[in-house]
Amino acid sequence: ASDNAISTELLDWYDRHARDLPWRAAPGQPAPDPYRVWLSEIMLQQTTVAAVKPYFAKFLHIWPTVEALAAAPDDQIMAAWAGLGYYSRARNLAKAARVVAELGAFPETEAELRKLPGVGDYTAAAIAAIAFGERAVVVDANVERVVSRLFAIEEPLPKSRKVIRTHTDAITPECRAGDFAQAMMDLGSSVCTSRSPQCLLCPLSRHCEARMAEPEHFPFKAPKK
Ligand code: ADE
Repeated sequence: ASDNAISTELLDWYDRHARDLPWRAAPGQPAPDPYRVWLSEIMLQQTTVAAVKPYFAKFLHIWPTVEALAAAPDDQIMAAWAGLGYYSRARNLAKAARVVAELGAFPETEAELRKLPGVGDYTAAAIAAIAFGERAVVVDANVERVVSRLFAIEEPLPKSRKVIRTHTDAITPECRAGDFAQAMMDLGSSVCTSRSPQCLLCPLSRHCEARMAEPEHFPFKAPKK
């Protein structure tokens, strides 16, 4: 797992086409604030980018730092979260903020981040890569779809998770792992979409094993019982 044509070409595309999202650092800027990355990733679990944006702005306005959030009463945090759904996220957000405030800073590795309330495998990897530059392997539903197509993985989900992870690991670069992860997400949401992949616009089409088959059939899914 080091530098490879896929990651190089994807990062080049990302430099030109990255979505301008409030939790991302400006191009060429150092890594974004871990508090912003963590807050956005928690909100983005089970919720769309469009729905998250106003809540992200509101939380940062009311609580500009994790210390400020840690000092807020639960009922104020729950009230600010109202409308976003999946309220266990807000309860865990309050708990995790207090753990981080107690520690004095965010943990900086995937393994340590995973110990925070509300931070699962995906979220720990995403924060480690995006905020701290760790070469973590970040796999969400978008990445599952893109990788299933790139390697024409015919084994169905969820069984294919292991092989998807192995392939994602193999194409994750040593440098810019956070940008790479976010580039995969952007590619999956704008180009390599579930129903109508735009292969003519895809920076990875020449590497894609599903391109000549029918990419929209990937990822295969086990029949529902
Ligand atoms: N979904 C979850 N995390 C994201 C991110 N960092 N950028 C875009 N979409 C996301």
